[in-house]
Amino acid sequence: MPKVNCKLVSWDDVMKWCWELAEVIKGSGWMPDMIVAISRGGAVPARLLCDCLCVSDMMSIQVVHWPTAAEVSEKARVKYPLKLDLSGKKVLLVDDIADTGDSLILAKKTLEADCKPAEVRIATMQWISPVCKVKPDYYVDEVKEWIWYQYPWTRLEDIIDFTRRLFKEGGKESWSLEEIAEAFPEWYGLSYEDRWYRTAVEWLVRFGELEKVDGRYRATEKLR
Ligand code: ADE
Repeated sequence: MPKVNCKLVSWDDVMKWCWELAEVIKGSGWMPDMIVAISRGGAVPARLLCDCLCVSDMMSIQVVHWPTAAEVSEKARVKYPLKLDLSGKKVLLVDDIADTGDSLILAKKTLEADCKPAEVRIATMQWISPVCKVKPDYYVDEVKEWIWYQYPWTRLEDIIDFTRRLFKEGGKESWSLEEIAEAFPEWYGLSYEDRWYRTAVEWLVRFGELEKVDGRYRATEKLR
């Protein structure tokens, strides 16, 4: 059993899910005037939904998760608050996944308060129903057991994060690229072409989190 339950998502999966999402929306008899992506995860699905629903107006709202003072939990914040007039508009708010629901709740509340649209509905490809505080109006998959969806737009970001975790929790002083590649299927149930691991460690070296010694990688103070 991997330590983190992951599912590798392909571009074809994304296209299929967005197509299906558009079918569900059309079937509901409701049509948005504008699509608002929750940035960054919702950007690609939002653009694809614009295409599938023939919607030409799209904007985005960026929600970030910052650690609270105690650094135990994270709080969702809107990074660049923007006030604009969307009165009379029906807005579809789109994210890739509804996990805790915090981003969706905050983005919807902020849009309603700052832009005064006629209506906001929520669409996501996945909805993790046991943990999510909100049910999207439209979704494709109800996910009953928490899983990390490895979407194509976070390929490198996730591999970098997964690599950080290997160095922190893997119990080894140093790792070769081959050892990292071997650990991935065991830890995450995923494997990638070598260039992904190589690029991930290159970034971690740039960030000052890893150092290369005699062809092997070691965590610096910053990562430990
Ligand atoms: N972003 C937030 N929750 C996620 C999940 N379970 N999978 C992928 N991306 C996410």
